[in-house]
This record gives sequence, C-alpha cells and structure tokens, in this order.
Amino acid sequence: MVEADFLYICHYNNTMDKELILKEILSSVLSDLDLVTQVKLEKPADSNFGDYSSNLAMVNFKNISERFSSPKDFANFLVDKIKTKDQKSLIAEISVAGPGFINFKLNGDYYLLELEKIISNKENKLINLGKNKKAIVEYSSPNIAKPFTIGHLRSTIIGNSIANLLEASGYQIFRDNHLGDWGTQFGKQIVAIKRWGNKSEIENAENPVEKLVSLYVKFHEEAEKDDSLNDEARNWFKKLEEGDLEAREIWQNCIDWSFKEFAKIYNYLDIKFTENDGRGYGESFFEKMLQPIIAELKSLNIAKEGKEGATLIFYPNDEFSPLMIAKKDGSTLYATRDLATDKWRLENPRYQNEDGSSPLVINEVGSEQAFYFQQLYRIEEILGWYKKGQRVHVKHGLYRFKEGKMSTRKGNVIWLEEVLKKAKDEAMKFTKDEEIATAVSIAALKWNDLKRKSEANINFDWDEILNLQGNSGPYMLYTYARAKSILRKASPKENINNKIEISLLEKSLLQKITDFPKIVAEASSEFAPHHLCNYLFDLAQEFNSFYNKFPILNSSLERQFRLNLVEATSITLNKGLSLLGIKTLEKM
Ligand code: ARG
Repeated sequence: MVEADFLYICHYNNTMDKELILKEILSSVLSDLDLVTQVKLEKPADSNFGDYSSNLAMVNFKNISERFSSPKDFANFLVDKIKTKDQKSLIAEISVAGPGFINFKLNGDYYLLELEKIISNKENKLINLGKNKKAIVEYSSPNIAKPFTIGHLRSTIIGNSIANLLEASGYQIFRDNHLGDWGTQFGKQIVAIKRWGNKSEIENAENPVEKLVSLYVKFHEEAEKDDSLNDEARNWFKKLEEGDLEAREIWQNCIDWSFKEFAKIYNYLDIKFTENDGRGYGESFFEKMLQPIIAELKSLNIAKEGKEGATLIFYPNDEFSPLMIAKKDGSTLYATRDLATDKWRLENPRYQNEDGSSPLVINEVGSEQAFYFQQLYRIEEILGWYKKGQRVHVKHGLYRFKEGKMSTRKGNVIWLEEVLKKAKDEAMKFTKDEEIATAVSIAALKWNDLKRKSEANINFDWDEILNLQGNSGPYMLYTYARAKSILRKASPKENINNKIEISLLEKSLLQKITDFPKIVAEASSEFAPHHLCNYLFDLAQEFNSFYNKFPILNSSLERQFRLNLVEATSITLNKGLSLLGIKTLEKM
C-alpha cells in the first residue's frame, strides 16, 4: 500500500486530512528541535489507547539524549510542545505509554465538523495526484466482426473505473477504444461474405455480428479443405489496403454492423469514450502511418529483415525475443499498429502535458498479452518516446465458468448478451421492477469484476455475485438504498447537540468515512479499483452494524448526529460506487 502520499491529499471537502494536520504538528515540533525525521502514525489495535499513536520520541531519542534521561522523559517534553501547537484543538487527549509511545485521542467536535463538511461538499475532485497531468486510458477494444468477449467486458469495466479514479485524482483524462478494425483477417472476412454471405440478410439479422462470426468460421472450415481460399483472402486484403472500392465497402459495412452492437452494450453498461467523437481510434486509423514507422525503425537499425524475409525488432542483448512488425509479403501486424498509435499519441499536442512531457498511457488488456506489452513498452523506451512508468499495462484475468471455460474456438462462443440477460433474469428473482433488476444485475457484474485484483482469474458464480448478504454489487446497492430510506423518513434538520457522547463504533464509522480520499489516492496511483471496493465493502459493513446497534430516527439527543452519519455514509457510498461506474438506486 502506498503511504498514500499525504502531501497530495490536500483538500477533501475543504478540510485538511486529520492525519495530515496531526503530522504537520508533529513535524513542526521536531523541526523546532532541529530534528528532521519522517513522522509515522500508527492506529492502535485497541482504540481505547487512542486514535493514533507515534514512536517518534523513541526514534529520535538517540539524537537528543544529552538533554533527556530517557525516551519517556523526552516523550513527556514533546507532549507539552505538541499541546501548544494544536491551535485547532484537534487533539482531545494526549498521553505517554510504555517506553515512550505518544497516544492521541482526537476531539469529538473535530469529527462533528468533519461530518458537516462531508455533507455540504459537492466536489468530485478528491485529490491532486494528477494535477496538470494528462492520461490516455484505453479500454474495451473489441474486434470488428468478432464477438465482444468476456475479456472485453472486463477491460471495459476495469478501464472505465481506472479512468474515473484518475479523473477524481486531478488528471485530465482521454478515454480511448482501440478497436480491432484492421488486419489480414479482413481478407478472409471479405471472401466469406462474398462467397456465402448475403448483405441484407446480415443487415437485418437480430445480431449481425453473430452472422459475421459464423461466416468467418465457415471460411476456416472451407480453407482447411481448399488452400486456395487463403490466397484469395490475401489478395482481398491487399485490395483493401490499396483502396479497392468493393473491398472498402464490405469492410466498412462490417465496422458499422459491429459498432452498432458494441454501442448497444456501452449504452446498456453506461460506458463512454471521449476520443474520435466517442468511437475511439481503431487500428485502421493508423493505416497511413504504418509504412513510415517500419521505415523509421529500419533506418534506426532497431528493426531488420530476418532470415525468412519478415521485418523484426531485435532487442539489445536479446532481452526479449524479436517482435515482428512486417510479414514477408510486407503486410503489417498488431504490433506495427500499436507502435504507430503510440507515436501519434506522443506527437499530438492534445495529449501533451503542459511542460511538453509525454502523457501517461494505460492499456487495459488481458494478462495473456503481458509479454507482448513488455516488448512494446521496452521498444518505446529505447526509442525515447516514453519513460518508465508512462506506459502501463493493466492486466485482467480470465473468467472461469463452473460449466467449463468459455471459449471462442470454432464459433463456440458464449455471447456477452446472454450473460447480461441471464444476470437480469437472476435479479428478477428478487424484484418485480425491470429497471431495478437491470441496475442490480449491472452492479452485480461490475462489482464482481472490480472487487479483486484485476489480474486474478474469476470463478464465476451466480450465487456469489448476486448474494444480498455478501461482498456483492446488490449488497452495496442495498446498503445505499437503506441509508437513503432512513434519510427520507427524517424530518427537517436540527442542530447537532454538542454534548452527546460519541460511541467507539460511531467514531470508527466516521473515521472510515474520512479515509475516503486516501483510498482514492491509493486506488488511482496503483490503477487498482479493488482497493476502493474493499474499502466500500468495509464501510457498508460498519454502517450496517451501526444501523443494527443504534436507534437512529427514534433516538433523542443523538438523533441529528446519527442522521448526519447516515448521510455522510450515503454520500461516500455514492461517490465511491460512481467511481467504479456503478449507478446507485434510491429505493430497492
Ligand atoms: N483488440 C485487441 C484484442 O481483442 C485488444 C487491443 C488492446 N489494445 C492495444 N493497444 N493493443 O485482443
């Protein structure tokens, strides 16, 4: 876990983070004594000892031992100094324990204030990690005339959430979709459509992509018997590259039919892209830049012709196996198009940081491409295009279905649409309302994809993803709706009674709420939405225990404080879930 760079977490709800303030007090006491050390705060396991504890007296004693008889003695001295520096009365109690630990209890009023501020804050930018920085987040990236796979679904969900997190962290974000709309497979597709397809039949089919996939499968079956089909396909791809009108038209039809399908999915899942009028820059956009890239890499001696006549990138000291960028017939590959894409991004002023440096570029793509992306990034580093850390591959693992792994071989595909429909049917088991069922099912799928490290494989289990009692999307929505229902029943706001005693459980819930920006910093700097899920799940659980233990609407002195706590929880859940791309429901 990153020590969440406290320096970056400046303004949450216009208040300073309480840990940051405490740390600032402690650092300033130390620097008055000419001691410079990093201040670390621990949370005591037993909160009776206080909210925070520090070992700074013990750590610094050796540097100042001529003035004090023991670390404990030094700790007592520090306590007085700290008290005078605490002008905002953040600290309620401060004590020395054991060999010289200093324990802090924070002021209840401070929490009340903090609570007020969370409730009144509408800001969505939580931290400043990405101030003046730009990032391109590329996700989804399905292939034209091929199924939108579960892998593409994962990329869509995870990539979208990472883009949201970076945006909340102050980055300027560009959301791109690197559609697979170019490559020799289009030669095969054209042959199949011309030989066995029927344009109006495809166009009017309920799912045109399904028709295209079965034509593609048929091509492979027939080509196994008749190799001349492969030559024919190569020929058609060549024609496509040369701009032959018929080839271009068929190819463009494939794109339009496929994109229509994809757009339905994006719309259903509430996913957007910002680049190229919301379509994203597919591989074909870079077509004209492919030969120049090959020529450039050859002239730099980075790429050379291999024995078989193909053009390959060879790595210094054979660090990686060679990467092919042109086949022997001159046709380009996936890698050639990625290189062209990344160079274009680099040179496009839209994406440059104000200081002229390269943007952060993130590719959300399955783990099976990990080696390929290492090869790609290494070459971009050797070329001086991007520095370490400016290119990031966020990987995702596979879905494993109980019934056996889903596979795309020979058209034996599990269609995403079927998964979406099944999720909705399952959700209909607990509600009669179609709209609620749709929202619940989408939340269930998204949460399931985001709640663990993205690299992990998922054993897909309908009972788990829809479990209203467990770590699931429906549980999260349900908790939020519960909070909102309490708030609907509350009469107009009263003033909080400052004399109330705040219980440990309530304090801990409030602390949890104020941790939110720190978690957003952690999740975005690690490109890891699961940190946010873990946090939100803990928050929901703490909230539910609070709800089960204390009367809220029927309490007297504590009533408004507790209602504020409910409201702050609901705001935090809502903000957190929206960063995950999950829409909340006011009622369930
Ligand atoms: N279309 C590719 C696939 O389905 C993913 C593209 C990922 N992005 C990239 N820049 N290579 O496997």
